[in-house]
Amino acid sequence: MNILVVGGAGYIGSHMVKQLGLMGCHVTTLDNLSNGHRDAVLFGSLIVGDLSDRVLLGQVLEAGRFDAVMHFASFIQVGESVEQPAKYYDNNVMNTLHLLDAMRMAKINRFIFSSTAATFGSPLYTPIDEVHPQNPINPYGRSKWMVEQILEDFDRAYGLKSVCLRYFNAAGADPEGQLGERHSPETHLIPLVLQTASGKRPHISVFGRDYDTPDGTCIRDYVHVSDLCDAHWLGLQALLQGANSEQYNLGNGNGFSVQEVIDTAMRITGTTIPVRNAPRRHGDPDRLVANATRAKKSLGWLPKYSDLDAIVLHSWRWERRQ
Ligand SMILES: NC(=O)c1ccc[n+]([C@@H]2O[C@H](COP(=O)([O-])OP(=O)(O)OC[C@H]3O[C@@H](n4cnc5c(N)ncnc54)[C@H](O)[C@@H]3O)[C@@H](O)[C@H]2O)c1
Repeated sequence: MNILVVGGAGYIGSHMVKQLGLMGCHVTTLDNLSNGHRDAVLFGSLIVGDLSDRVLLGQVLEAGRFDAVMHFASFIQVGESVEQPAKYYDNNVMNTLHLLDAMRMAKINRFIFSSTAATFGSPLYTPIDEVHPQNPINPYGRSKWMVEQILEDFDRAYGLKSVCLRYFNAAGADPEGQLGERHSPETHLIPLVLQTASGKRPHISVFGRDYDTPDGTCIRDYVHVSDLCDAHWLGLQALLQGANSEQYNLGNGNGFSVQEVIDTAMRITGTTIPVRNAPRRHGDPDRLVANATRAKKSLGWLPKYSDLDAIVLHSWRWERRQ
């Protein structure tokens, strides 16, 4: 099988490239390395290029004879998206449109898209299933929701079959220790906590201790990056077998609070992690937890690492190698 992984030099994409490579697929990564790393692409070939380069896209897709495209490339920082919405709509929406157009020209009609829980906004209920209303509250979430809607239109008009995977909090690292999270700047809780444990940061800030949760800190659903890759693989199999386009929420269904993550990290690293309390951040809901029943029933998805310990342990092994 011949797969194009766009954004395959980034955190989640690089784990996917490895999984596809191990499954015997022929993998091509397209990445501009704005946030990715050349040495994270462990299998196949890497084309360094930008999605805005329509000539390059045309050439890559016409020449590649791809069975499917997996699209991980986007900007990912919620706060930055509020300050610079144009940057987000341009890369996350316009550039995705360029990619979809190039696919249409090359007659490639299977697409797996990295969407997000941020398309739901502040939840009306948890766990959040796929029929929960989507009402994103920042440009990042809106950009992903727009792509989901574009995909519905492209299916209706052009027969493009897509799987939208709405990750909750992607976390963890390659269990074999070859890959992990290397964002710059890092905004995700687990790497920040572990960088504090290893002395790279003076303290970890906890934004708000007065949420409506048992310990007062926000609850999130951490889903292991390897489990996300499994869902991509299953989504790909479904498309190859002629499945219709579908959206899936991906999370463990287990929520963990910020304080629980810090406590787990202290236990696993055997260190004391300095904590500083900070005011709430605008737009942070009390809890975001997925109902992933649809992915489990329709795709047969079975997360392997649903406990926080494995997620933190794998991330810690990765952190220690940095
Ligand atoms: N990390 C999470 O918790 C999380 C949660 C929900 C959804 N997602 C989505 O999953 C996807 C992957 O996230 P990640 O954490 O691996 O991000 P990442 O930043 O590590 O990876 C994205 C990759 O895309 C590349 N890229 C960005 N714009 C590009 C462009 N115009 N042309 C070519 N390459 C480009 C970057 O260089 C990077 O390697 C993103 O679409 C993100 O929105 C992530």
